[in-house]
Amino acid sequence: MLKEADGYLSGQEICGRLNVSRTAVWKVIRQLEAEGYRIEAVRNRGYRLEKGTDLLNRAELESSIRTKWAGKTLLYFDETDSTNTEAKKAAEAGAPHGTLAVADFQSMGKGRRGRSWASPHGAGVWMSLVQRPQLHPSCASMLTLVAALAVSDGIRSACGLETRIKWPNDVVAGGRKVCGILTEMSTELECINYVVTGIGVNVNNEAFPEEIAQVATSLRMETGGSVSRSRLIGAILEAYERYYARFMEYRDMTELLEEYNGRLANYQNEVRVLAPGGEYTGTALGIDKAGELLVKTGDGRTERVISGEVSVRGIYGYV
Ligand code: BTN
Repeated sequence: MLKEADGYLSGQEICGRLNVSRTAVWKVIRQLEAEGYRIEAVRNRGYRLEKGTDLLNRAELESSIRTKWAGKTLLYFDETDSTNTEAKKAAEAGAPHGTLAVADFQSMGKGRRGRSWASPHGAGVWMSLVQRPQLHPSCASMLTLVAALAVSDGIRSACGLETRIKWPNDVVAGGRKVCGILTEMSTELECINYVVTGIGVNVNNEAFPEEIAQVATSLRMETGGSVSRSRLIGAILEAYERYYARFMEYRDMTELLEEYNGRLANYQNEVRVLAPGGEYTGTALGIDKAGELLVKTGDGRTERVISGEVSVRGIYGYV
C-alpha cells in the first residue's frame, strides 16, 4: 500500500483497509524499517515510503517477477556462497525447470575459467536459473548467448541503458563489462539433466578494485542513477522467456542471429583469438546459427571460433 500511495498514507486508512489495529500497523512499519525500508512517519499525515532504496528480498522479487515459468520457483538468500551452487543443489534434488536462486551477497561467487566473481552486498544481481531443456548437450552453451540477449534487453527496459554483447556472453556498456554469465550443466548419456545459467550484473557499485577497474562498470556508474534490482531481475526473466522460446524453435540461434549480431560489440572489429593451439588475429564477422564466432583471418580464411575453448579480445583492449 505504501508503494502504491502517492504521498502519505494515514494510519487510519491502513487500519481500515486491512481491518487491523493501529498497534498492528505500527509493528509492521517497525518491521519494514528493520528490513531496510525507509519510512517517514508524520503526525496527522501518516506514513510515506522513501523511494530509491534498492532492497532485495523475497517480497520485492515476487512482486517483480511476472513470467510464465522463469523464476516461478524462487530460492532467495540474503547470503550464500554461490547461487550457481545453490541452483545445482536444488536441481539435483529435483527442482523444476525455471527455478531461480537469487542472493543479495555471494561469499564465493564463481566466474568463468575458475576465476572468482566479486559479489558485494546490495551491489548487484547475483542469480542462477535452473533449466531442463530437451537439447543435445552440445547445444547447451548457446543458452549463454540467449541469456546475454535477455540481460541486454532487461537492462534497457529497467533503466534505458543500451548495452552490447562481447561474444560469447559478456554484456558491456561504455566499453566495460557490466555483466558476466556462467553456464554449468549436468548430462547423462546424450541428454541434459539440467543447465544452470548464472548471471551476475553489476548494478549499484560505485567503484571497482584496481585490478578490474579498467574493464568493469556498473549500471549506476553508466547511468548516474539508481536501478531497482528486483525490477531488473523481472525484466531479464521476461526477456529470457521470449528469447528461449525462439531459441527452442530450431534449438539453435537461427531465430536470434540478427538480434545477436546487431548487438555484438566486436562486430567487424579486429579481434585477437587466444586459442589453445595458439593466438591469431582477424575480423569478427558475427556468429553463425550454431553460436560460433566467425573470424576472417589475414589469409582470407574464415575460422569458426567455439566458445569455451578460447578468449576473444579487441586488439586494443577488452572489447
Ligand atoms: C564471468 O566470469 O564473466 C561469469 C560470471 C558469472 C557470475 C554469476 S553471479 C551469479 C552466479 N553465481 C556465481 O557464482 N556465478 C554466477
